Amino acid sequence: MPTDELSESLTALAAYLDLTPETATTLPPRLYISDEVYDREIETIWSKTWVCVAHEAELPNPGDFVGLELIGEPIAIMRGHDHQIRALSSVCRHRFMPIVEQGDRGNAQQLRCPYHRWTYATDGRLEAAAYMDRNSCFEMNEIRLPTFQVETWNGFIFVNLDDDAPPLAPQMSGLDAHFRRNRLVEDCADWVLIDRYDKIWDCNWKASTENSLESYHHMGVHRSSVELYAPTRSVRDTIEYGERHSYYEVPYDMRNDLSRFMVEQSGWAPGDMGMDEPTLEISFTPPTTAFTVSPESFGYYTMWPISKDKTRVYCGVFGRPGAEGEQRAMTAEYGSFLEQVMDEDGSAMPGIHRSLSSRKAEAGKLSWLEEPILRWYQWIARQMDDESSAGRS
Ligand code: FES
Ligand SMILES: [Fe+2]
Repeated sequence: MPTDELSESLTALAAYLDLTPETATTLPPRLYISDEVYDREIETIWSKTWVCVAHEAELPNPGDFVGLELIGEPIAIMRGHDHQIRALSSVCRHRFMPIVEQGDRGNAQQLRCPYHRWTYATDGRLEAAAYMDRNSCFEMNEIRLPTFQVETWNGFIFVNLDDDAPPLAPQMSGLDAHFRRNRLVEDCADWVLIDRYDKIWDCNWKASTENSLESYHHMGVHRSSVELYAPTRSVRDTIEYGERHSYYEVPYDMRNDLSRFMVEQSGWAPGDMGMDEPTLEISFTPPTTAFTVSPESFGYYTMWPISKDKTRVYCGVFGRPGAEGEQRAMTAEYGSFLEQVMDEDGSAMPGIHRSLSSRKAEAGKLSWLEEPILRWYQWIARQMDDESSAGRS
């Protein structure tokens, strides 16, 4: 039975289903800081929703792997020698040691547990375990690392901790047309990872996700970076793709040196990436993933909670083969641009998180530029609603 506090929070959240962009506000502050709300989010969202965790281009070769911990589950995303991508539980089948940790990445012909060196194949089968010959219950070929559901959409790898979750692809149909228009599958299949960001921000995951849902803040925290080429004043109206997805565009300000430099370096020409003019395109799929397409790159910005007060933020940016040179030029000229921009966002979060506990804090009004945030609140409300959460996606 929900407590009074949780019931009140869920009732408040359900009321967002009736809000319109004209009446939109942020969530009540307590929804970002309540332990009970957080527990409910883990149960109704994070334990059963597809979460984008990587891109296939990060794992091009058999044996490539990325380690992550998703709401406490140690997972190794691994490309097997059969070229298949799996989400292996990285909890050793001997005595529970995590074999691959969050942030580990590389190439391995086998996964070896550091504790007693049990050794697993790239598909999870146990291949070696020393000194087990006197245990009559031990059968090497019956032991393997379990897998979680994994599905790839346009090269982006999603994991679902619920073994019975419905497939991802139908849920992404809203964004299919958008991605086809950008020809990300055909034209960008061989694009390479050019930059990565992986940090923990001191905030609730909803505050950091809101940041991924609007470009209103470009003129604030990004006034010396993104605002120069993709300014807030250029943001075009949001397009909704069904109940899940939102999309908007920010045409580049080509009077600016940085915009011209980025577009020239990229070799972009009108029509490339499905764009008539150099544009930052931002689409979003819940729970937390934003995809960006721009003349010089495409990327994903994803995050998941570590606790109600801490969020792991994980991004990858991809460019044309040979774009490492472009990236070096960018780095020489502007420093690590992704890190700079993401740290600008991240720097805003601890203050916001602290202020949510203020006695005087209350839900704030949203700009029309923040319409995707309202749509996302409504998605959350549907997931967390008592009656309807079963079977929703
Ligand atoms: S816990 Fe992994 S080999 Fe012992
Ligand atoms: Fe930002």
